Amino acid sequence: MAVLTSIRKSLGFITKRESFSKILLGTGCLSNVPENTVYGGPKPQDPNQRVTLTNLRQKHKKWEPITMVTAYDYPSAVHLDTAGIDICLVGDSASMVVHGHDTTLPITLEEMLVHCRAVARGAKNPLLVGDLPFGTYESSTHQAVDTAVRILKEGGMDAIKLEAGAPSRITAAKAIVEAGIAVMGHVGLTPQAISVLGGFRPQGRNVAGAVKVVETAIALQEAGCFAVVLECVPAPVAAAATSALQIPTIGIGAGPFCSGQVLVYHDLLGMLQHPHHAKVTPRFCKQYAHVGDVINKALLGYKEEVTSGSFPSSAHSPYKISAADVDSFSKELEKLGLSDAASAASAAAEKLKPLNNQVGEHQATK
Ligand code: KIV
Repeated sequence: MAVLTSIRKSLGFITKRESFSKILLGTGCLSNVPENTVYGGPKPQDPNQRVTLTNLRQKHKKWEPITMVTAYDYPSAVHLDTAGIDICLVGDSASMVVHGHDTTLPITLEEMLVHCRAVARGAKNPLLVGDLPFGTYESSTHQAVDTAVRILKEGGMDAIKLEAGAPSRITAAKAIVEAGIAVMGHVGLTPQAISVLGGFRPQGRNVAGAVKVVETAIALQEAGCFAVVLECVPAPVAAAATSALQIPTIGIGAGPFCSGQVLVYHDLLGMLQHPHHAKVTPRFCKQYAHVGDVINKALLGYKEEVTSGSFPSSAHSPYKISAADVDSFSKELEKLGLSDAASAASAAAEKLKPLNNQVGEHQATK
């Protein structure tokens, strides 16, 4: 063993535990490295870094509300990370708010995987949950397990979410959990089922519907889910489900009596991009900002300044060439028969002279 180690060291690899860990894990940037318990791997995980199911259970036990927000790309993931959000959901709502479709149905697994990987690179702290997209888990438990495995292996997620209702979905959830993958269930308004629900309609608004919401949530818990999203159900129904379950409920349009809340990133920021989300921002969604207005204003300002010629001003033209070099450059251009280009270079240098005198050498090389 000692001989082997010294050969490996002399070959220049595995000089640190860190690099050994990276080799073992295949990559240093995937998020689904195990929690630092028995199988934590050679590199101890910072227990303060990644939110785990254990952390969520502890929060839930202490009645501390769980926060969850969707993210679809690197910048949104970094924002969630910075804000200390507990769970980051790469939701199939990407189909609508990012890809501009009218429903969540068209998004593909390959597209979801691209979103998942970008989010995994940006969000180092939240538990990462990836949605199983429509058409990738309904046919059989094998199909469901295969898709869930891809979300973890190729998407770098920690867990998956699936929309439930039918008994086959409960069976699929159980099979995925048995495959070693944490599953979040989703009941109430399940947008992938709009064909049978007759549109984006709230659920559980009569006795039979309300009982169905609670029973499905219980079935998901029995299948081994670690949490259940309750979407667009009356608050008393969500309260009943939350009381009936030992696992946390995460509400969206389900009132305040859930163990946590989730909102779509674009909705809560007021991004105003998708017609559905601009004109029909869900009534349950509070807009914590009007980022869409800020973006529109910035783009109009940019357009106006480029059109008028005021951008870039000398302040945003930092790269310097000495006056002597401009002279020699102009002469070279003259020799090449490019006298208009020579005049343009000299005129530009003249115009930006005040700036060139101010900008230090170190700035100019940036
Ligand atoms: O895809 C999504 O964004 C969701 C949330 C609405 C929970 O499923």
